[in-house]
Amino acid sequence: MGMLDLKLAMASSVRKILVTSALPYVNAQLHLGHMLEYCQTDIWVRYQKMRGHDCIFVCASDAHGTPVMLRARQENIDPEVLIARVAKATKRDFDAFGVEFDNFHTTHSPENEELVCKIYQSLQQAGHILTRTIEQAYDEQEKMFLPDRFLKGTCPRCKSDDQSGDSCEVCGATYTPNDLINPISTVSDTTPVWRESEHYFFKLGDFAEMLRAWMAKAELNRNMISKLDEWFEAGLKDWDISRDAPYFGFRIPGTDDKYFYVWLDAPVGYMASFKHLCKRRSDLNFDEYWNKDSEVELYHFIGKDIVYFHTLFWPAVLQGSGYRTPTSVFAHGFLTIDGLKMSKSRGTGITAQTFSSHLDPTYLRYYYAAKLGPSMSDIDLNLEDFVARANSDLVGKFVNIASRCDKFISQYFNKQLATKLPDPVLFAEFVNAAELIAEHYEQREYSKAMRLIMALTDKANQYIEEHKPWLMVKDEAQLDEVHAVCTQGINLFRTLAIYLAPVMPDIASKTKQWLGEDDWNWASASHPLLGKQISSYQPLLMRIDKKQITKMIEETKASAAPKEAAPVATTESGEISIDDFTKVDLRIARIIEANPVEGADKLLQLTLDVGANQRNVFAGIKAAYEPSELVGKLVIVVANLKPRKMRFGMSEGMVLAAGPGGKDIFLLSPDAGAEPGMRVK
Ligand code: MSP
Ligand code: ZN
Repeated sequence: MGMLDLKLAMASSVRKILVTSALPYVNAQLHLGHMLEYCQTDIWVRYQKMRGHDCIFVCASDAHGTPVMLRARQENIDPEVLIARVAKATKRDFDAFGVEFDNFHTTHSPENEELVCKIYQSLQQAGHILTRTIEQAYDEQEKMFLPDRFLKGTCPRCKSDDQSGDSCEVCGATYTPNDLINPISTVSDTTPVWRESEHYFFKLGDFAEMLRAWMAKAELNRNMISKLDEWFEAGLKDWDISRDAPYFGFRIPGTDDKYFYVWLDAPVGYMASFKHLCKRRSDLNFDEYWNKDSEVELYHFIGKDIVYFHTLFWPAVLQGSGYRTPTSVFAHGFLTIDGLKMSKSRGTGITAQTFSSHLDPTYLRYYYAAKLGPSMSDIDLNLEDFVARANSDLVGKFVNIASRCDKFISQYFNKQLATKLPDPVLFAEFVNAAELIAEHYEQREYSKAMRLIMALTDKANQYIEEHKPWLMVKDEAQLDEVHAVCTQGINLFRTLAIYLAPVMPDIASKTKQWLGEDDWNWASASHPLLGKQISSYQPLLMRIDKKQITKMIEETKASAAPKEAAPVATTESGEISIDDFTKVDLRIARIIEANPVEGADKLLQLTLDVGANQRNVFAGIKAAYEPSELVGKLVIVVANLKPRKMRFGMSEGMVLAAGPGGKDIFLLSPDAGAEPGMRVK
């Protein structure tokens, strides 16, 4: 046992740790900003696992809420279908970025429903819930209450048009939807009315003292504490935890038409995902992790925008319902690209998928690590700097050690490492860095860890530079020396690859394969690999070509162009692919109303029943049909056409017809056996 192994063994009471990343919403694609958080968390978890700790990483999709409901409606699918589809896409992205959860679940799960109902009932029994009637904007056409972000109107302060229900992007004012001038529902483009409804509130104020104590114990970072102080000063307000039907979420027990607000059940999703994991892992005990007096460490990694939810609501809800509270909450800043907020039209709203189709995410994991610390400051991805760093640090310095040493070991020594290190002092210096690097990872000081590792990388290169195996190899008498030097080089590289394994797991596994090793833990770095037969070296990373970045940006810009304007990909002969065709959602609809349109001589306004909902469509068929003869008839519609604003109103689909036009337009499908909503194949 080496010195380090001994230290590790002594210090190693195995810690039990449960770690989470914030749950991504299902109504948006993962972008590089999200990936900053998932990489940060994944690095920490991998590090803990390498230290031999019992560390578990869970996450889930955040499935509930109005946007998901509307999106599913718009696509004419069940929300469950949307959730399943997004789960596939997220899995693809997490796999590509090497983000490895022990479990990834969804908040729309039986585990979550059971837990959130139980928590709510405990809170209610303990007197932490009250009801109050509030007034809210209501969309009479869609028959739904409108969350602030589904309202737009004129800013009460600067009078800018098209501002959302709670804040103005132009002058920065924040206000309540009541103050908005000429409010319009963005769901139906109609003017909302104000309607009363009873809501359920969580009495956050009951927990002021408890939260202050929790906050001190959790050792939150300074920025977070000053934010919390501000909130305490402003006073802890009751939190509205209910929403009226229609809402996609869990119904509140004891009510007919009230649902839990998505932000109540979202963090409970952390527990639910863990509970779901317990079904598969008989060694895990849910109560041991969540009981009031649990000794397991619990950490939530989040972005700075959701601190309020995680440092006030969440610990209070847990406390109030008899569970343990988080050990700490770690918040990071936001990702900017080239100094600016991410934006699709500028080409910087880069999705995880677009990135990984152009570049190996390993580079980005490293770049993030090189920039991340424990604070909430924003992180800038400067694309030029990114390319330079990846090429110089990773390819030029780090990977280069492996490739240049392997060359000689393969060519002259039959892939066999020497049995002794020529410079044990240098090796010991690398080994001795282990504890400091470990401490940096532990404290989420990744940038400090990367700097230390890169300084050692420079030393390794210097060592090879000094010994010049490429010159020695020309002299038979110096071959043993070449063998020794390259064995030293490979061992220095191996130590660095172990230290970098939490950041670049992919490089670690390729290196293990090359060196014929099964598994690494943190202590593996303390002993050299000697006399060993290694396998063929496969290039670990290539240089980034700037063109790859340009292409990625172009692809992102193209995806931002409005869908209607996007040309359908056609072949030279004008054909479209079967994929293009299957994007068109053709459905049977019944005409339930048909009216002439004032001021339009060719148009009829049709109200269509498409099964799940009704649509308003304008069709240029006035010359061919009397409105009255259309009512009750079936037609085929393109159901997933993006709604278009026309001079006379919104058109939410297109009716298919055949014929030369004018009087001769034929649109009715045979009535036999067809039902509104049916897919036409
Ligand atoms: N669904 C909520 C979280 C619920 S947790 C119980 C949510 N989802 S999100 O998809 O909008 O964001 C997921 C995480 O990604 C959040 O922690 C958020 O802060 C983070 N980020 C989203 N955009 C980001 C950047 N541009 N930069 C860094 N992190 C960002 O919030
Ligand atoms: Zn304004």
